[in-house]
Amino acid sequence: MKIAVGSDHGGFLLKDVIMKYLKEKNIDFTDFGCFSKDSVDYPDIGQAVGEAVAAGEYDKGIICCGTGIGISISANKVPGVRAALCGDCFSAKASREHNDANVLALGERVIGAELAKMIVDTWLSSEFQGGRHGRRVEKIAKIEEKYRRS
Ligand code: RB5
Repeated sequence: MKIAVGSDHGGFLLKDVIMKYLKEKNIDFTDFGCFSKDSVDYPDIGQAVGEAVAAGEYDKGIICCGTGIGISISANKVPGVRAALCGDCFSAKASREHNDANVLALGERVIGAELAKMIVDTWLSSEFQGGRHGRRVEKIAKIEEKYRRS
């Protein structure tokens, strides 16, 4: 499994925690930045990680900003991305099982490092259940089709 990881400055320290955790678990990842605590714009990173996942270059993405909100909204603008902002393990599991989320968003200013690691663990080990959930995820793709411009 290959994971695209990214954050703005507000999620920089949490991204570091997540990368160390992935390394410990021998999970392959690429860091899409940012690379210091200097201020950057979260849409740039959300878009980059979203595009890499949507293109199939990575199996999943994990993105962080201060709240997880701005970067998840940005990633979700890329067709094919289903980014889920999670602050608990129940939502992380459901976002995989029901929504087939392919990007996990976390808020550094909202949750602690230990909870973030548990959420990542839960999210990565949960599988999409398909069935009625598949029909609903297909409907999300149809919404994207309706508004696709190019
Ligand atoms: C940056 O200050 C902050 O706005 C950003 O990290 C994020 O929380 C936006 O949603």
